Amino acid sequence: MTLTIRPVTEAVGAEISGVDLAQLNEAEFAQIEQAWNRHSALLFRDQQLTDDDLLAFSRRFGELDPPPVQEHGRQSPEGYPDIYVVSNVLDDKGAPIGALGAGEAVWHTDMSYLATPPDASMLYSLEVPPTGGDTWVLGMQAAWATLPDALKAKVRGRRIKHDGTYNSGGYLRKGVTPTDDPHQAPGAWHPAVIAHPSTGAPSLYLGRRRNSYVEGLSPTESDALLDALWAHIERPDLRYQHRWRVGDLLLWDNRSTMHRRDPFDSATRRVMHRTQIKGSGAPRAWAEAA
Ligand code: SIN
Repeated sequence: MTLTIRPVTEAVGAEISGVDLAQLNEAEFAQIEQAWNRHSALLFRDQQLTDDDLLAFSRRFGELDPPPVQEHGRQSPEGYPDIYVVSNVLDDKGAPIGALGAGEAVWHTDMSYLATPPDASMLYSLEVPPTGGDTWVLGMQAAWATLPDALKAKVRGRRIKHDGTYNSGGYLRKGVTPTDDPHQAPGAWHPAVIAHPSTGAPSLYLGRRRNSYVEGLSPTESDALLDALWAHIERPDLRYQHRWRVGDLLLWDNRSTMHRRDPFDSATRRVMHRTQIKGSGAPRAWAEAA
């Protein structure tokens, strides 16, 4: 097989074909890693992965990170605690087998409410609905590069609070007290512009909008700046829309992308297995060359 790499948008993402992720050799992985640093998100179609294959491929990128605590706690396939299930499907007792239901999952970066969030996450599709449930990936390096200078000046050197109260589906995380006060909410402060640890490239680092706060500003000033930044990332040229097929694996870098998911009909089934790669360090502020 010949491995080919095709960018899916200019801002973010590439599709890699001609490779079986269950039987990857070192040379192929080296090309994948290079594409990963360049495009921030990678798509592999037509894979046939067992949970062991998914874990083995994930471990190529580093140590695995425990799944997040979602609305029903942690949900993993039997015997696979490092995999977490994203699904609207109910088991035979009527309990959800996974997280996030069938609703929209809003733009977010995975687990950036922690001091050291996971470097990367991947989603492997086992069952997909006939329509809806698309996953969107946003290129945050391109978001920074295209940000107007006046906004860059306002955000440079600042830190932003990343909320840990609610997940991207709007559900309260299990065991957390509900709040809409960013100062009371659990979470972490991170630089608003971070450098990629491998390439040094700057990314706007927003996390999620709800309960977000810009350090050192009044609530009104903070909301105005955040609204302007979130309006900027609405630009269609910054994003890739992924329409799922069974056997797709989508991998994204949490330091240089955000993602969201479209809602879908809850009478249809969507089952994804997800892994995440442990953070190699806390997000580091980007220092502009003098
Ligand atoms: C996630 O945010 O990890 C889930 C995205 C999806 O269900 O497409």
